[in-house]
Amino acid sequence: VSWKLADHPTLLKGKTLALIVLDGWGEDKPDEYNCIHVAQTPTMDSLKQGAPEKWRLIRAHGKAVGLPTEDDMGNSEVGHNALGAGRIFAQGAKLVDIALASGKIYEGEGFKYISECFEKGTLHLIGLLSDGGVHSRLDQLQLLLKGASERGAKRIRVHILTDGRDVLDGSSVGFVETLESDLAKLRENGVDAQIASGGGRMYVTMDRYENDWDVVKRGWDAQVRGEAPHKFTNAVEAVKKLRENANDQYLPPFVIVDENEKAVGPIEDGDAVVTFNFRADRMVMLAKALEYQDFDKFDRVKVPKIRYAGMLQYDGELKLPGRYLVSPPEIDRTSGEYLVHNGVRTFVCSETVKFGHVTFFWNGNRSGYFNPEMEEYVEIPSDVGITFNVQPKMKALEIGEKARDAILSRKFDQVRVNIPNGDMVGHTGDIQATVVACKAADEAVKMIIDAIEQVGGIYVVTADHGNAEDMVKRNKSGQPLYDKSGKLQILTSHTCQPVPIAIGGPGLAAGVRFRNDVPDGGLANVAATVMNLHGYVAPNDYEPTLIEVVSN
Ligand code: 3PG
Ligand code: CO
Repeated sequence: VSWKLADHPTLLKGKTLALIVLDGWGEDKPDEYNCIHVAQTPTMDSLKQGAPEKWRLIRAHGKAVGLPTEDDMGNSEVGHNALGAGRIFAQGAKLVDIALASGKIYEGEGFKYISECFEKGTLHLIGLLSDGGVHSRLDQLQLLLKGASERGAKRIRVHILTDGRDVLDGSSVGFVETLESDLAKLRENGVDAQIASGGGRMYVTMDRYENDWDVVKRGWDAQVRGEAPHKFTNAVEAVKKLRENANDQYLPPFVIVDENEKAVGPIEDGDAVVTFNFRADRMVMLAKALEYQDFDKFDRVKVPKIRYAGMLQYDGELKLPGRYLVSPPEIDRTSGEYLVHNGVRTFVCSETVKFGHVTFFWNGNRSGYFNPEMEEYVEIPSDVGITFNVQPKMKALEIGEKARDAILSRKFDQVRVNIPNGDMVGHTGDIQATVVACKAADEAVKMIIDAIEQVGGIYVVTADHGNAEDMVKRNKSGQPLYDKSGKLQILTSHTCQPVPIAIGGPGLAAGVRFRNDVPDGGLANVAATVMNLHGYVAPNDYEPTLIEVVSN
């Protein structure tokens, strides 16, 4: 690879550039369920005044970010991948679809490896049970269950994680019913197939970026040891009962037991385990617990000798897990790597829950620095053990301060942040708290933009996907939907809305404006844009830049 980027014909190098990603910040009609509209967001409002030359919308969902269909909402993984890589890669969701449809998934090394346990052992499938399409998909699990049983799996145990975050709260019951009826069909065909354990994704197993290992431990105890505070003989009943005191995201761990109160599916020596999430961030911690000999994050108590494969490999550098059913997208030559090779000193900051998004995902699913002498990544510890509606300001101001200080130090050419509030609080479904969250995010943006004013720099403000701009489920004509009991249906998930991008700052050369000949521009067009603003032309195969320079 030749890393040298060509000089931009007119734009100069050496301006400090702030690159701000608002997580979960889409554009939608103004109404009472649009928390960004309701919140006081003077900074973002003033940027919008710059339309169409300095503010526009870009696509952040579906095919624009490598997802299978236009019905797929965006998410942070694919969003940050596209932002950083400047190109659109077929993402995990799509790669798994293709591998299942062609049957190639069963011909790979990963499936062969686990299938050697089918004769004597149990096949355990662990993952998020929903059709959200962000971390996993129910239809992929269904195909895998069918495919594995046709290829010799005689005893199958499914360890479910209920969602309510990428899908409506309460939908877990229906997903468990669907899975139960599939498993019943397998049993009719002589396969001993059952749900063995479960819990809500945010309380059991699916932590990320090592924010709280207790989450993974609670899952481990249920899945591997067959131990949990709640025991049921039936998973539908379990979920219904536990929902009386918690929502889908936060259901406590439970195990399914037989008539003798014995757990039906702990993981034993000789078993096979597949984690069926395709997305890495919330599965890689469990992957470590399953795979590493030396592991000290919690006491595993029991470490069965198993054959483990991920749906995908979750970390390419750690080669974790070593066995997987589908190869992950190979995202190479990211903008971060190019810019560092071309002398752009880079500072990156977010708080824990989004830290890997602007580093690992941004850099094409690669951890660590390209060149530690050129880069500094700062992680601000997130609050642990709370739901973020309780602390909707999160660490926005701390992120803003770190970015401000990095800008004012003049030691960096690019200062990149992710401001998590719109997304993390939006996911709680708490509308009032999300309004507070959006205001805090706007204040952080102001802090950074003010610093850019002081050093004569440039800012680029954008977002990775929608969330806070729409907090209710709607019918086709956009009216809010109510459930049978007349309750408003809260939308905790992301959306398919476009996101804003704004450019500005005293360092922005006169005549720079958004082109109007890339109307379908999306997140992948941002990388070339940013390279231009650093004074470079993007590589030929990057998606086109969003800006042009007109002479006055
Ligand atoms: C999560 O993992 O929190 C949600 O499923 C998706 O949110 P993110 O894509 O914004 O991280
Ligand atoms: Co999100």
